[in-house]
Amino acid sequence: MGSKIQSFTPREIVSELDRYIVGQKEAKKAVAIALRNRWRRQQVSPQLREEISPKNIILMGPTGCGKTEIARRLAKLAQAPFVKVEATKFTEVGYVGRDVESMVRDLVDVSVKMCKEEAMQFVKEKARGLAEEHILDLLLPSPNKNQGARLHIDNFQEPAVQEPAHIEEETREKLRLMLREGKLNDKEVNVEVSQSGGMPMMHMFGQGVGVEEMASNLQDALQNALGSRKKRRKMKVPEALELLIQEEAHKLIDTDQVNKNAITRAQESGIVFIDEIDKVASAGGGGRGPDVSREGVQRDILPIVEGCNVSTKYGVVNTDHILFIAAGAFHISKPSDLIPELQGRFPIRVELESLKEEDFVRILQEPENSLVKQYSSLMATEEVSLDFTLDGLHAIAKVAATVNSTQENIGARRLYTVMERLLEEESFHAPDQRGKKVVVDESLVASRLSPILQNEDLSKFIL
Ligand SMILES: Nc1ncnc2c1ncn2[C@@H]1O[C@H](COP(=O)(O)OP(=O)(O)OP(=O)(O)O)[C@@H](O)[C@H]1O
Ligand SMILES: [Mg+2]
Repeated sequence: MGSKIQSFTPREIVSELDRYIVGQKEAKKAVAIALRNRWRRQQVSPQLREEISPKNIILMGPTGCGKTEIARRLAKLAQAPFVKVEATKFTEVGYVGRDVESMVRDLVDVSVKMCKEEAMQFVKEKARGLAEEHILDLLLPSPNKNQGARLHIDNFQEPAVQEPAHIEEETREKLRLMLREGKLNDKEVNVEVSQSGGMPMMHMFGQGVGVEEMASNLQDALQNALGSRKKRRKMKVPEALELLIQEEAHKLIDTDQVNKNAITRAQESGIVFIDEIDKVASAGGGGRGPDVSREGVQRDILPIVEGCNVSTKYGVVNTDHILFIAAGAFHISKPSDLIPELQGRFPIRVELESLKEEDFVRILQEPENSLVKQYSSLMATEEVSLDFTLDGLHAIAKVAATVNSTQENIGARRLYTVMERLLEEESFHAPDQRGKKVVVDESLVASRLSPILQNEDLSKFIL
């Protein structure tokens, strides 16, 4: 399954990423190559494959320049299971904190969820049909069917005497039509629902090595033991239908097969994004010796990146082909401060550029999910139209760039705070201003934001 999806060429990958991320050409190229390389490695003969070590990436760049965004989009594009973890959350074996294997278990969880959703989608129509029948049974219990079903509709009296089959059939079809047209939406039915629910008490377990997994296995076991309990609940028809579709779909899918596919997909196309890798690199020089626990974390991460087997509740996962993308600002430490073995596993290094005013102008409008599109659509729901002029966009970008240079540089994230402030009036008053047209131009930006910009303390808090 997964390997076919991945056969995008690097050029195709870059152009897909261009739809969402402005600039950062080098980084896009690097992730595109890495993804393709994994596919290539899967194509060569097994003996040679063992010899070729996977080529993982380190993305280096200041905050808010698109590191996470690139990895996330890449995963989406490849329909790959994706998890983001923070290197600083892990601790050496035996200490409090998450064990490194949890990243693989999380990845499999994501993969299972993906595969299950796809499988559910696949059987959805069939499930809907079955659920419909079920609802009709509940509304129209026929005497020769089970007695459990109860009628809860006032207009449809339970037939006192047994109706001839064809009349019954006719009523059923009429009812089906009404159901589909939503005419039964106010009716209530009694539905048997299986009791599933979290086991909050399980959270008492600590998070040490192994225990974490033990706890989750135990939780599953308990859920299996208790989960089959059923309970009758009264609810409206649409809710019942939705619930029954879910239930029927669950019955229709082959869970074992889904889990098997999920393991394969995690192994063959999974992407693990390890953020803040620079924080576990020992900042070299400065007289300080290598920090033992940081190095310990790196040593723990190493086997996973090198390729090993991790057992999960769905089965054993081999990490050979999982793509690892590490990221960090690397202000203080450098990739060369990582332990040599880890450096070797992350041979592709890319530096991302710090975003500038011109980039902001583009980020505001070009991406498919751009802020301008987001705000315009949000306001359109209130029938208020926003018209951003080019000088307006430049003015917004300029404010963002200025605040980034005078305060902390938080990259494109600054656009979020600036936009929010700029459009606060509209956000608040929109419901009372249906039909209004707002032109967001240079003068509007100036009038709303300059007073804040001129006051440094104020801008610290607001922008
Ligand atoms: N080059 C870009 N093009 C479009 N949007 C961007 C770009 N860079 C950042 N953004 C937007 O800014 C936000 C923050 O970006 P992202 O999460 O990728 O930052 P980051 O580089 O991972 O930072 P950090 O080091 O703090 O994790 C995202 O919502 C993203 O949409
Ligand atoms: Mg990030």
